[in-house]
Amino acid sequence: MAGVSLIILAAGMGSRMNSDLPKVLHRIGAAPLLHHAMQAGRALDPDRTIVVTGHGADAVDAAARAFDPEVETVRQTEQLGTGHAVAQAAPLLAGQTGDAVVLYGDTPLIRPETLEAMRAARARHAVVVLGFHHHGAGRYGRLIAEGEALEKIVEYKDATEDQRAVTLCNSGVVCADAGTLMDLVARIGTANAAGEYYLTDIVEIARARGLTAGVVICDEAETLGINTRQELAAAEAAFQTRARAEAQENGVTLTAPDTVFFALDTVVGRDTVIGPNVVFGPGVTVESEAEIRPFCHLEGCHISRLATVGPFARLRPGAELAEDVHVGNFVEIKNAILDEGVKVGHLTYLGDAHVGERTNIGAGTITCNYDGVNKHKTTIGPRVFIGSNTMLVAPVTVGRDAMTGSGSVITEDVPAEALAIGRARQVTKPGLAVKLMDLFLSKKKKG
Ligand code: UD1
Ligand code: CA
Repeated sequence: MAGVSLIILAAGMGSRMNSDLPKVLHRIGAAPLLHHAMQAGRALDPDRTIVVTGHGADAVDAAARAFDPEVETVRQTEQLGTGHAVAQAAPLLAGQTGDAVVLYGDTPLIRPETLEAMRAARARHAVVVLGFHHHGAGRYGRLIAEGEALEKIVEYKDATEDQRAVTLCNSGVVCADAGTLMDLVARIGTANAAGEYYLTDIVEIARARGLTAGVVICDEAETLGINTRQELAAAEAAFQTRARAEAQENGVTLTAPDTVFFALDTVVGRDTVIGPNVVFGPGVTVESEAEIRPFCHLEGCHISRLATVGPFARLRPGAELAEDVHVGNFVEIKNAILDEGVKVGHLTYLGDAHVGERTNIGAGTITCNYDGVNKHKTTIGPRVFIGSNTMLVAPVTVGRDAMTGSGSVITEDVPAEALAIGRARQVTKPGLAVKLMDLFLSKKKKG
């Protein structure tokens, strides 16, 4: 089969979101809606992806490129309708062979399998439209069809009472030969209730030219389009349900699945166990046989095999945990590499650091990485023992097999094998505790 071009419509304003942010940049699964549509389309292994932008175009272009540096974007300066939006891609698609698939940037839950079924249906029809059955009051376009054969699409605004009673609705997803699609959209007019260029008119135009149109039906949940904050929340819930099921199918144990929140790009390996109330931000990879204990927040980090994290740990971007690392409760790690077997059990902040293998970081350790202007690095060698409540004032290096005394403020490099203590020496006064207590009591009595 020849290659596929994706056209993703993302020019609309989304006024019902009541937001300054373009609609397609609102997030579910910690990723913009647009990324979800692009990810679904990616399953077709497209030769080209074209995003049609308009409202907030600069921000939407940038988000599209962040997902796929090779994406092409085209401006629709006035939003004159879905047919007009698709027509903006015509100059880019001149001479393009193979099919084009139109997706909406605000419809994030389309399944790859559904898009593949549409591609397969192209063997039977020149134009393939994705439909779904809807029994509510949704103002969707209605598909007038006989079995798989599609006669026309009537927009809700233009439909008769009888046509509105049809439950088969238009999702908006369309697949046709790229050249044919561009020919068809060039012929769309605006003689309708909205005075817009309706993409849906291509069905009748195609049939008038002796081409056939067909319907592929998917579950309504897949075509959920986001227009309001309520729909955004519903899509988030649907995405999470799907992500949890996928993780379980991939051999991940979720102790309390409903309390675990995944991002679009989360990767978790087989036989990893995730406890209750764990939240994944973007950019997290967990290898196999690791354990994420309850109440952890993870983003932009990599957790290797057999590592254990939490309960109550926070891993921020650049946290890189090698095999067998243990990170315990109330520990925050940012931009730090922890080599194999490192233990950071309790109440610690490690930022901008490298910790060598088998090193033990005592409770309450802090890398003082920020001087108010710049960030500085802390380097700790292998097999080091950092005493509890050590402040490591960066830039600073602690050599291999060294130790720091509890409560030390380490401002100078510590050589390998040395013990560094940086704190006031203890003074002990025999019997003074009892004398002081007597003095306090007698003062209190006198009043
Ligand atoms: C559209 C369909 C309708 C279908 C419904 C499914 C048409 C005429 N109607 O209606 O049959 O049931 O989707 O949700 O196609 N967009 C642009 N530029 C424009 C107009 C729209 O980029 O000029 C984008 C929007 O950002 C959005 C998508 O196209 O992502 C759909 O546009 P929208 O206005 O929501 O279409 P509906 O009226 O919902
Ligand atoms: Ca819509």
